[in-house]
Amino acid sequence: MNKEKYHKREGFSSSIGVIAAVLGSAVGLGNIWKFPYVTGANGGAAFILVYLLCLALVGIPVMLSEHLIGRHTKANAVGAFKALQPRRPWFLVGGAGVLSAFLIMAFYTTVAGWVYAYIFKAAGGALLTANPEDTSLVFNTLVSGVGEPLFWQIFVLLVTGTIIMAGVTKGIERVTKVLMPLLFVLLIIMDIRSLTLPGAGEGLAFLFKPDFSKITVGVILAALGLAFFKLSVGMGAMITYGSYISKNENLPKMAIRVALADTLVSLMAGIAIFPAVFAFGFKPDAGPSLLFITIPTVFNAMPFGRVFMALFFVLTAIAATGAMLSLLEVPVAYLTEQYQWTRRKATLVTILGIGSLGSTATLSNSILAKVTVFGRTFFDFFDFTTSNVLLPIGGIFIALFVGWQWGYANVKQEMSNDGQLKNDQLVRIYMFLVKFIVPIAIVLVLLAGLDLIKPIISFINQ
Ligand code: PHE
Repeated sequence: MNKEKYHKREGFSSSIGVIAAVLGSAVGLGNIWKFPYVTGANGGAAFILVYLLCLALVGIPVMLSEHLIGRHTKANAVGAFKALQPRRPWFLVGGAGVLSAFLIMAFYTTVAGWVYAYIFKAAGGALLTANPEDTSLVFNTLVSGVGEPLFWQIFVLLVTGTIIMAGVTKGIERVTKVLMPLLFVLLIIMDIRSLTLPGAGEGLAFLFKPDFSKITVGVILAALGLAFFKLSVGMGAMITYGSYISKNENLPKMAIRVALADTLVSLMAGIAIFPAVFAFGFKPDAGPSLLFITIPTVFNAMPFGRVFMALFFVLTAIAATGAMLSLLEVPVAYLTEQYQWTRRKATLVTILGIGSLGSTATLSNSILAKVTVFGRTFFDFFDFTTSNVLLPIGGIFIALFVGWQWGYANVKQEMSNDGQLKNDQLVRIYMFLVKFIVPIAIVLVLLAGLDLIKPIISFINQ
């Protein structure tokens, strides 16, 4: 890469901007929609503990790995591997990441579309009810339609595409910096209301009193998958964002801070939702509909509920959009840097691809409800395979690459900002994690969780 290009490359302009953008990628539907529904489906508190373990041992090290190679190479997900190992096929890891971005966006834009639609339903008053049947009806009518959810999905793609075209500093950084704090404040208000609902205790117990008998290999796989999805790691989004981070940021500190803040947001969303689940007689394992059917009842029990509810969906839409910016940036950075496409062309082609693929996810609740891939609807297939298969596999290779290929000396130099930070001990712990713990843990969880152990044993015994 020539020097001039290196200097001209756009990047995040301030420390706070970097944190906001990385956090803006992490915080999204994952916290507000996915964390509650996956926690609900996997038994609550015990699942959360396993999830925290996955974050600490796997999620944070992989995030740090991506930032290290992204910042060092100043390149996109594919280019970064090519720059460090031009003669080996490691760039395929980046290629798989680009593919994952498409698959995640396919269902993410569906859910984001529901959220956008809910802004208007909330503002119009259609959702103000304490009757679980009514809120379920509104949701089911929306998702089982054809034109309405497709319209919102396309709308979401156009909004996200427009911001991406505006570029890194002007687009991504400006939007995320302002809106994250606002979401946080609203979640506090919601938590207070939810916690003071009659019967809130049961919801809290569900979230915080672990029942270890609920832990199965399926639960562990779900927790691992959620850790990847939540931190936006395993597919190069953090390599791409890492490439915009300046040389004097303290990368390990940032990864830990982002993970902590992100987890706080997830828990706050959980505290807003689960007391209401039990207070109003919903089922915690309702699946992807959980957020949409339970949240209206919390607002219904609040003064100015209609205004607050509309605001909640506005902020959720914004959080979702921040996450989507980082997803879209993966193929866009790849296409502009590897093929010299303009940002405009790369963005348009990418959203066209996502729109086509994503419509199958959106229609999974209506005309494509009976079409399945490996026994799942398109929506569930994209949702399950990306988090629980593709991202963890990406994580294995990213960790192996940094740990065994790039190696200790390079890691030490990049992680210490060329010797400015004295974090030797941390480098050693990190190296141990990425060389051994991360790959071994993921392989074991994948084999057990996807039920591949038996076929392998019988293959060996043949
Ligand atoms: N972390 C985002 C969320 O929680 C989703 C995401 C996954 C974003 C992978 C980018 C890459 O909503």
